Parts: sequence; structure tokens; C-alpha cells
Amino acid sequence: MALPNGIQSTHELLDAHAHIWNHIFNFINSMSLKCAIQLRIPDIIHKHQKPITLSELIDALPNINKSKSHCVERLMRILIHSKFFTKVEISEDKQGYWLTPSSILLIKDEPMNMTSCVLAALNPILTDPYHHISEWFKNDDPTPFVTIHGRAFWEQLEQDLRLNQLFNESMAGDSWLTASVILKDCRQVFEGLKSMVDVAGGTGTMARAIVDAFPGLNCSVLELPHVVVGLEGTQNLTFVAGDMFDSIPQADAIFMKWILHNWPDEECVKILKNCKEAIPCKDKGGKVIIVDIVLNNQRDHEKKHDAIMETQLFYDMLMMVLNSGRERTEEDWAKIFNDAGFTSYKITNVLGFRSLIEVFP
Ligand SMILES: C[S@@+](CC[C@H](N)C(=O)[O-])C[C@H]1O[C@@H](n2cnc3c(N)ncnc32)[C@H](O)[C@@H]1O
Repeated sequence: MALPNGIQSTHELLDAHAHIWNHIFNFINSMSLKCAIQLRIPDIIHKHQKPITLSELIDALPNINKSKSHCVERLMRILIHSKFFTKVEISEDKQGYWLTPSSILLIKDEPMNMTSCVLAALNPILTDPYHHISEWFKNDDPTPFVTIHGRAFWEQLEQDLRLNQLFNESMAGDSWLTASVILKDCRQVFEGLKSMVDVAGGTGTMARAIVDAFPGLNCSVLELPHVVVGLEGTQNLTFVAGDMFDSIPQADAIFMKWILHNWPDEECVKILKNCKEAIPCKDKGGKVIIVDIVLNNQRDHEKKHDAIMETQLFYDMLMMVLNSGRERTEEDWAKIFNDAGFTSYKITNVLGFRSLIEVFP
């Protein structure tokens, strides 16, 4: 039997065959990870403080049906393949499971843990819209999220207290991680500032980390009322319930992490114009500090490029599906900065798949 037109060899045919199966089953990687977190496997191994044998792990798993114990080894096998755990020698005839850097970030006690990110992003409310992308391409809805749930993502969070909490926790975990890198590698960005507003700053984790590192800096977190309700500030941290599309409190600088990618260009220009009204001119130190993706920002780091590009492209699809937002190239960013009346910007690539962008009036 002849090979299909355009396929040169059996080798190419079988590679294409496996490639499709791997894409069909990509979700099994995500769901295996979700299961490991729900069973608290990273926490169990961490608590054990040394590599854990299969039988020790099974004994430590809470409330599992013992007739399914043999399946734990299969779950661990795929998670070892995807580099969440390793198998190490304990003694001549004994092996145990141990953590990798990725599963260390899934330990609940680790402040910068990504456990809530995994559980929020893989919550069916967030994954269901992906089944409706092609339907959305043919209808007038702003996002596939609206097609399936009938309301915008932010409205969903306002109505759904559990999801709202999970989402805010996931942002807090990410903020710890981002703050630790920024405050180590880009401290100078905040030096000399007396006041700053973290626009749409969630529950204030990032702002807290920054004011702890710069005690002379006063920071406000501007957020939607349902996010900041009941939160208490400190001497140099205040929470302001409001809407960034209405107005932004005055300050030397504005900080925005993971905000502009949620919105189409027109809305970004509105937010940026409000930022510009809130800050002094460049000579007096006014600036907007943005943490977001710059598509293709890793041009010079060939080795890491593929994995980082994939994360950036996943994010771009996420923004399309949830929010009518998008990820932007440097040229896209330059255009919206210019449209909002800013004169220059500086991109620093210190945050892996994201960048830090300083924008000057
Ligand atoms: C992706 S989260 C980022 C949160 C935080 N900056 C961080 O990175 O941890 C986006 C935030 O925008 C907030 N938000 C959405 N619309 C807003 C508005 N009109 N005014 C103020 N905040 C808004 C949401 O409540 C949410 O906390």
C-alpha cells in the first residue's frame, strides 16, 4: 500500500502517527498532575524528608481505596516521565520517589507554590470553553468562555466564591515567585520611588513583598471590590476598591502584573491613559512597571526557546478563550504605549516566559 502523498518514509509516517496521539493525549499530563496534587503526593514526599518507597507512599495516601493501590505506581510512572518526580536508589534492592524542582513548586507550605494555579486552570469551568472554540469562531460571542457560561470570566469570579478564592490564591503564589526574582535581579526598578499603585494587584501579595523590601515606599492596591473585601492593609500598604477603567490613584509609579494581556488593545490604551494621568512626568521619576509576556522575548536563548515559546503560545490561547485578551510582540507593545501617549520603554528579560517592561511618559 502506498504512503500518503507528502509523507516520504515509514519513519515519517510513524512519527506523524505518534505526534497526533501525543497531542490527543496532552490533557492526560495535565490531569495526572492535577490528581497528584489532589492526593497531595508532593506534600507527602516532602514531609517524608527522604525518598519514599511505593508502599510507604501508598500507606500515606489519604483515603484511597486499597484495591487501587497498584495504580499509584502507574500514576507515578507518567509523572516521572514528565519530570515531576524522580526515582532514586535507597539501597541495593530498594528505590524511592523524590521531588524535582517542578514538584517542589507544588508543596503546599512553599509560599510560591503553584498548587492553586494547577487546580484553578484545570477547573472544569475554565477547561470547558476549550470544547467550544470552533463554535465560538462562528458566533458573535466575545469569548468561548461566554459561549459556554453565558457571562464574562471576571463576572464568573464575582459570582463563584470558591473559584474566586482559588484564583486569588493562584495569583498570590505567582506573585511570591515573581517578587523573589524581581527583588533579587531588578531591585533598581523600585529604587527612589516614594509611592506606587499596584493596579489590579489581587490580594496584595506582590505589593506586600515590595513594601517589605522598600520600607520607605507607600503602596496601594487598586482592585475590584469582591477581591479586596475584608483585606486589611498596614502602615505603608492600603487597599482601594475601584475600577482601573474609571481612575487610578496618583503615585510616582504604577505596577501592573498580568493585567494588560487580559484585555484587547483598545482597553489597554484606556488603562494606560489612566496610568499616565496618575503619574508625574519622566524627569520626576514617573513610570509604569509592567510584568507580562513579550512574545518571542527569548530569541537569544536558543536552548530554552522552544519550551518558553510554547508557554507563551498557551497563554495567548488562554487569553483568547477566557478574556478577549492576547499576548503581544514587542511591536504590539510599542504601538499601545505610543497610542496611550508614552514616549519610551525598556524591556528586561529576567522572568522566563514573561518580561519586565518599564514605560515612561
Ligand atoms: C490575572 S489577575 C492578576 C492579579 C495580580 N496583578 C497578580 O498578578 O497577582 C487580574 C486581576 O485584574 C482584576 N481586575 C479585573 N478587572 C478589573 C478592573 N476593571 N479594575 C481593577 N481590577 C480589575 C481582577 O480582579 C484580577 O485580580
